[in-house]
Amino acid sequence: MKQKTVYQCTNCAFQPPKWVGCCPSYQEWNSISSTVAQVVSKQSQAAVLTMAPLSSFTAQTTARMRTGLEEWDRVLGGGIMPGSFLILTGDPGIGKSTLLLQIADRISQQARVFYFSSEESLEQVTLRAQRIGCRDSAVLFSDTAQLESLITTVTQEKPDLVIIDSIQNCYAAQIQTVPGSIAQLRETAFHLMRLAKENNIAIIASGHITKEGEIAGPKMLEHMVDGVFYLQGEDRWQTRVLRSVKNRFGAINEIGFFQMEENGMVEVPNINQSLINSISDTPGSVLISSLEGSRPLLIELQALTVPSKFGMPQRVVTGMDPKRIVLMAAILEKYLQIRLSDHDIFFKVSGNLKIKESGADLGIALALLSSYFQQPLPSKSIALGEVYLTGQIKPINLINLHINEAQKFGIGKIFVSSQQKIEHATANILRLNHVYELVNLFSEN
Ligand code: TYD
Ligand code: MG
Repeated sequence: MKQKTVYQCTNCAFQPPKWVGCCPSYQEWNSISSTVAQVVSKQSQAAVLTMAPLSSFTAQTTARMRTGLEEWDRVLGGGIMPGSFLILTGDPGIGKSTLLLQIADRISQQARVFYFSSEESLEQVTLRAQRIGCRDSAVLFSDTAQLESLITTVTQEKPDLVIIDSIQNCYAAQIQTVPGSIAQLRETAFHLMRLAKENNIAIIASGHITKEGEIAGPKMLEHMVDGVFYLQGEDRWQTRVLRSVKNRFGAINEIGFFQMEENGMVEVPNINQSLINSISDTPGSVLISSLEGSRPLLIELQALTVPSKFGMPQRVVTGMDPKRIVLMAAILEKYLQIRLSDHDIFFKVSGNLKIKESGADLGIALALLSSYFQQPLPSKSIALGEVYLTGQIKPINLINLHINEAQKFGIGKIFVSSQQKIEHATANILRLNHVYELVNLFSEN
């Protein structure tokens, strides 16, 4: 067989035709290594396939594996589907390993579970198991990170569920790049997917997240797997939110709530009520819904306007571009004849969140007016609209997504643009044309 020198980037597996100092794809120096590979003729790989009609196959209709943790089961679409390959991702320390261990323990009471802890030593896992009270669990553990051994073991032993913590730490020995590199992830994900499908074994792998909040690795990883679940922290509610952003076996954007306690993650089944209860109907406070990635989140805007003592009114803003507040104050001053220019304005987005969406405009306007008039808005209401410089209130994108989510939280009144098209809503929809109309929401006194 013919031989040929192949050059490959150790980070991204890009193969330049000849050696180069800097990988043109990954933009890193000295990452190109060379190997001698055998040239396989393309023809020798091709085979004539036997095609078969669908009726000759039997569909696997095995029952889903339920943990009894209702929040988890619901977000997954009614439990873990056998043969599915899922990713659980989120910031470090958010509770991925804890939740996975709890899931493993619960499933092990009805099925066989293998847990590959490539990120932590077995001592660390033992300590965690002790803490969450599953020291005597039937789950079988290994700390191997090597993909080939993992696959051989699982193929032979055929457990029902495999947990891998984390996918970035796994490595395929045949790929000469570091664990976590794009090439490694692609290879690992490809083989794990096949392992799951060919043996009808469910695999849940934890995954790291980048600063931008995406799964670290190629976007392709997200496309390959059957489900992607995010575990996120929520400052205001002190809870962990589990969200499905992709689920071939259930609805996306389903959310579940947990709380990290002394002995593991505990479900918070009635979060809707506690969220709404924590919001008081005070002047200057307005709820909006904002997309976090593809995920809508209810967010409270707080405004405080007070008459200025000095010539220069102050504008102090956190969580948003201050220019947006200045602009909205100018629009309200122009069309509503109110004197915000001789008021100091303090503005805050709660929960340490940053808002960029123009759909928050209406919420900003209402928060400013609510503080200015010292009157609260109707309770359990949210505002979703963009405001033009002309004072017109305009529709926002993906309104139905926001409305569905808000309704889950018990929101009963929604302020929107009069031009907004809405598919279906059980909440009371209050349509507005222009900022002129906003004063009508506040009674004269
Ligand atoms: P962990 O599951 O290790 O997070 P991840 O795998 O996402 O990085 O959780 C780590 C944090 O959770 C750590 O700060 C300790 C805390 N913790 C508890 O508060 N209670 C518990 O029962 C456990 C196991 C951890
Ligand atoms: Mg972990």
